[in-house]
Amino acid sequence: MHSAVQVPISTLRGVMATDTAQKVQEVRQVTRIERIGAHSHIRGLGLDDALEARQTSQGMVGQGSARRAAGIILEMIKEGKIAGRAVLIAGQPGTGKTAIAMGMAQALGQDTPFTAIAGSEIFSLEMSKTEALTQAFRRSIGIRIKEETEIIEGEVVEIQVDRPASGTGVKVGKLTLKTTEMETIYDLGTKMIESLTKEKVQAGDIITIDKATGKVTKLGRSFTRARDYDAMGPQTKFVQCPEGELQKRKEVVHTVTLHEIDVINSRTQGFLALFSGDTGEIKTEVREQINAKVAEWREEGKADIVPGVLFVDEVHMLDIECFSFLNRALESDMAPILIMATNRGITKIRGTNYESPHGIPLDLLDRLLIISTSEYSEKEMKQILKIRCEEEDVEMSDDALMLLTRVGIETSLRYAIQLITTANLVCRKRKGQEVEVEDIKRVYSLFLDESRSTQFLIEYQQEFMFSEKGAGESESMEVA
Ligand SMILES: Nc1ncnc2c1ncn2[C@@H]1O[C@H](COP(=O)(O)OP(=O)(O)OP(=O)(O)O)[C@@H](O)[C@H]1O
Ligand SMILES: [Mg+2]
Repeated sequence: MHSAVQVPISTLRGVMATDTAQKVQEVRQVTRIERIGAHSHIRGLGLDDALEARQTSQGMVGQGSARRAAGIILEMIKEGKIAGRAVLIAGQPGTGKTAIAMGMAQALGQDTPFTAIAGSEIFSLEMSKTEALTQAFRRSIGIRIKEETEIIEGEVVEIQVDRPASGTGVKVGKLTLKTTEMETIYDLGTKMIESLTKEKVQAGDIITIDKATGKVTKLGRSFTRARDYDAMGPQTKFVQCPEGELQKRKEVVHTVTLHEIDVINSRTQGFLALFSGDTGEIKTEVREQINAKVAEWREEGKADIVPGVLFVDEVHMLDIECFSFLNRALESDMAPILIMATNRGITKIRGTNYESPHGIPLDLLDRLLIISTSEYSEKEMKQILKIRCEEEDVEMSDDALMLLTRVGIETSLRYAIQLITTANLVCRKRKGQEVEVEDIKRVYSLFLDESRSTQFLIEYQQEFMFSEKGAGESESMEVA
């Protein structure tokens, strides 16, 4: 039994090597396909160096004090020293709570893990609620691993490939590399020739070759070739010819998440599960051993912990069990920063008959820093709509934007944002260049907003199924 469990750990070192870290990176890139989503115009929190919110910056408009507060939390996360803090962003629907969280994610950059889940997601997965939350927690903790690798770095003097006369068969060749002090000729096998061809390496390039994996990386063109500039185009990066020895030791740093290490070392899953996302439940023993290994690496100075962010949107959808899990999980020393968002007021805590502010139990509420968002002014709403038009590549006349802003004030920001795409379609149908007042009017009459839709339901309730309201109560109808 003992030896059987040790296998994954002893392979951990091997698995964690450059190769897998790269695979993990590739998986991340696959999932990072962007399209125009609700928050794709947000590129950060738009704060200046003193953490003051600029009125309009990085796609963010107004909501100054909430953004400033988020900026302070961000500093806390970047310092990386504090774990297990929790923040709640509370406010009315459509006031930018999710947008602020996305802004924080953008500002954190690639190396700090940021996981976003919606409260309701926990219930739809094929695993227990606490397992789902544990995975979300461990996805949000980065382990920065330092590794020394041997590389060869130099300027390419010449590549010579001998093609077999028949055109097929084994290719062999020679690569001459130099630094400012030395020059060496290396023999090339088929694989190396392929990697060099793939990277389009030619004489005058500065390259590194990872000795363990054979991976070739092009750093740029040598300065001595600067006269080629015209032929190469402006994207070319010029670098100095390296000094000293051709062979060097180099420290490389990878950041992977605890969850990724869990999955890689989970016997039943293997790292391919990272591609499908279908990781199933992970055994407690695996996690315990990983924790022990990571603690060992930390002591040896080989790894650091990077607490990231777990963002739980619509947090009122969690139930009492999830909340008590969060309470406890936040106390572990490997906990991320937890950010939650909700638009609920005093409401029932799911799974109980008790009411509480935001539907969150008081003992958890007590640990939270609360950031509140407020409603937008007309000017801010106009600015947000303008940014959305740019994001969706829609030309809109000033009058139309004014009207759309009025619509937004009367109904909601979300409704007004929805009208942008639809108005643009109507405009294109009539072969117009710019969305005009007419187009806005047309889509406004085609698509109902929430209050007109409610009104409609009240008027025609007899015709709908499952209508619960009697004719007399229609005035008191409320939309939850
Ligand atoms: N300050 C802002 N700057 C730029 N865009 C914003 C801002 N606030 C909101 N938006 C945009 O308006 C839309 C609605 O905002 P968002 O989804 O963040 O609201 P929310 O507070 O999360 O609402 P809910 O409570 O319904 O989840 C989004 O497309 C968002 O990107
Ligand atoms: Mg939201």
